[in-house]
Amino acid sequence: MRKNVIAGNWKMNKTLSEANQFVEEVAAKAPSNEQVEVIVCAPFPFLASLVEKAKGSSVKIGAQNMHYEDNGAFTGEVSPVMLNDLGVTHVVIGHSERREYFAETSETVNKKTHAAFSHDLTPIVCVGETLEQREANETMNHVESQVRKALEGLSDEQVADTIIAYEPIWAIGTGKTATSDQANEVCTHIRNVIKDVTSNETAEKVIIQYGGSVKPANVDELLAKSDIDGALVGGASLETASFLKLVEAGT
Ligand code: G3P
Repeated sequence: MRKNVIAGNWKMNKTLSEANQFVEEVAAKAPSNEQVEVIVCAPFPFLASLVEKAKGSSVKIGAQNMHYEDNGAFTGEVSPVMLNDLGVTHVVIGHSERREYFAETSETVNKKTHAAFSHDLTPIVCVGETLEQREANETMNHVESQVRKALEGLSDEQVADTIIAYEPIWAIGTGKTATSDQANEVCTHIRNVIKDVTSNETAEKVIIQYGGSVKPANVDELLAKSDIDGALVGGASLETASFLKLVEAGT
């Protein structure tokens, strides 16, 4: 039985004091049980402080990106060594906004996924299709190739520990959620691809989240689906009240 992983992705939002207040409140109220894992993926400048605020609670702190090199002449970048050193446990890799605006490719996603495992970070690898791809019936092929490339060269144990977030681009920040059936259809395909890459046993362990306009009103239906094991949430993760409702739904 897989747990639900509810992860907030704040994107480029909040001030330090707002971030601290949010994590203090969620840390105090989030249930600590085996059925749900709670992650807050915050901007880099807040991470050290948020790790402190979350200490002693079930809340984990994640980053929204990183470089794949350990250190060196990469002005403006943040390395997996730095994240691990801060006490960060998760990192979002290959979010569609990074692929679209910051030249992230399937190759860099694969390098970053390897780098995450080299430094004890759990990668949350994002995949998903554009509206044009969906309308052209290319969703399954596109997502499949993103998943295959992201997982290339990983051991079965590492694949089992990877979190995949299926985020159809047309559903991100648009208020247009994929129906639970549409979302589950792609998540099932992702699990089948992982079965092909590794084994049934490994694929059954992989957490596959759905992301794209998840909110308290639609989360139950999504989480009830056979291959959806949580949510990666943007807008509805910015307020503690709605985020806690999503966490509650995951329990
Ligand atoms: O990574 C989360 C995401 O892109 C979904 O954003 O605002 O549609 O929940 P949102």
